[in-house]
Amino acid sequence: MLDSFNRKINYLRVSVTDRCNLRCNYCMPECGIEAMPHDKILRFEEIVGVVSFAVGNGVNKVRITGGEPLVRKDIVKLIEQISSVSGITDLGMTTNGILLDRFAQSLKDAGLQRINISLDTVNPEKYRQITRTGNIEDVFKGIDAARKAGLEPIKINCVIKNNSKEPDALEVKKFCDENGLKVRFIKEMNLETGQFSVVEGGDGGHCASCNRMRLTANGDLKPCLFTDLSYNVREMGVEAAYLAAIKNKPVCGSINHKNQFSNIGG
Ligand code: 5AD
Ligand code: SF4
Repeated sequence: MLDSFNRKINYLRVSVTDRCNLRCNYCMPECGIEAMPHDKILRFEEIVGVVSFAVGNGVNKVRITGGEPLVRKDIVKLIEQISSVSGITDLGMTTNGILLDRFAQSLKDAGLQRINISLDTVNPEKYRQITRTGNIEDVFKGIDAARKAGLEPIKINCVIKNNSKEPDALEVKKFCDENGLKVRFIKEMNLETGQFSVVEGGDGGHCASCNRMRLTANGDLKPCLFTDLSYNVREMGVEAAYLAAIKNKPVCGSINHKNQFSNIGG
């Protein structure tokens, strides 16, 4: 389906939970954020309903995000249900990798094709500082498990402060080169001030060719990361919400006061 600026919308990002097992300093305050009440979170059949409608209207690429998607209860069953929607040619997930060792093979068996893993440093102490609680060894195990399961290509998302030549970024790049992983550098963004830029090694941030639509865990369809516009599928119904989101997708991102990365999925 084309939006008002003739952009073909073929990519749906689905946040399946606002909860996370880490507290990355650029994403959440140390004490976490107030979690959405459970009854506001879409049930599996509602998520699958939105995905089916989107796929029936031109979407062929779906990415599961969070929060941390692997903390959603029965995530493997959800992946099974989503992957059986016919018309999806690319089904991926973005995860922090902490629980991936446990889930990689069953995710692959359920129909997940590929995975992006967040890793901003390869230094264990630095990793602990950035994530406040994380053990980097869990991520390394997760990467291995993803490789063994054939969830490929494996991409590493590395958030940078300024540029991809800063020390942590260079080390992550080296680690990726040595381990056959693709790396994408994402400059730290700020939703409230509207600071965003293109993703190095990826295709986010190019407003003129943006092909994305987003679904938050509580059912808001959002045409852009950097907008306050949202259309709730429970309030409006899937079809009306989806069509409104497409029609009102802004020409370019501005600011977002209403969401945090933890509930819109980066
Ligand atoms: N700026 C850039 N990327 C962010 N992410 C979370 N918060 C921010 C931010 N403020 C990223 C995570 C992950 C993806 C889901 O979003 O690092 O790679
Ligand atoms: Fe697309 Fe919005 Fe991101 Fe721009 S800011 S690239 S329009 S999602």
